[in-house]
Amino acid sequence: MANPRTPWAALFLCLLISASTTISHSWKPRPRTPCRELVFYFHDILYNGQNYNNATAAIIGSPQWGNKTAMAVPFNFGDMVVFDDPITLDNNLHSPPVGRAQGMYFYDQKSIYGAWLGFSFLFNSTEHVGTLNFAGADPLMNKTRDISVIGGTGDFFMARGIATLQTDAFEGDVYFRLRVDIKLYECW
Ligand SMILES: *[C@@H]1O[C@H](CO)[C@@H](O)[C@H](O)[C@H]1NC(C)=O
Ligand SMILES: *[C@@H]1O[C@H](CO)[C@@H](O)[C@H](O)[C@H]1NC(C)=O
Ligand SMILES: *[C@@H]1O[C@H](CO)[C@@H](O)[C@H](O)[C@H]1NC(C)=O
Ligand SMILES: *[C@@H]1O[C@H](CO)[C@@H](O)[C@H](O)[C@H]1NC(C)=O
Repeated sequence: MANPRTPWAALFLCLLISASTTISHSWKPRPRTPCRELVFYFHDILYNGQNYNNATAAIIGSPQWGNKTAMAVPFNFGDMVVFDDPITLDNNLHSPPVGRAQGMYFYDQKSIYGAWLGFSFLFNSTEHVGTLNFAGADPLMNKTRDISVIGGTGDFFMARGIATLQTDAFEGDVYFRLRVDIKLYECW
């Protein structure tokens, strides 16, 4: 005579397996279609002791072994920069700005170039009025880096999304230009 408990044990095992596979497969990314896409460039000219009139960014904090006119060695680690950079629609520094990128970045990796960014885009043009706010890690050695668009105001009321950064050009430590591909996934 068969053990009457066997079918129940088998059924229980089946349920357990199906439950665990359901759990591991229950997370499916929702369809990701941006509701708005924008591309901007911004231009950062760092103060180096000689370019006060041209500079749009300044080192405001440096580690004990550095100073405020040159990036610290190694990897700029410990430097904190505040900036007020022009935003343009193309990659030309001299194109009419459509807004300002204002905020800060600090280098927080000691064994590779990496920074953390927190800044806003301020728009006050015929095209856009309002702000977009950004935050996130910027591992500079990656060709593209994704940071968060954590909110917005005005034309960008309650906006959220992802901004893909790409270093479009740089000249030593003094100038860099970032291309910012913004994809908003929440629009109001
Ligand atoms: C800052 O540090 C750099 C690099 O070490 C050095 O060349 C420069 O003279 C320093 N500037 C000042 C003002 O101390
Ligand atoms: C935006 O531009 C308008 C028109 O030029 C000006 O009156 C206003 O003060 C500006 N606002 C800000 C926040 O810069
Ligand atoms: C940077 O690149 C590395 C190697 O390609 C990758 O593993 C990592 O996820 C990237 N990080 C970001 C934030 O994109
Ligand atoms: C300002 O800085 C940019 C970027 O380094 C450079 O191309 C430009 O010639 C500078 N302008 C002046 C007046 O120094």
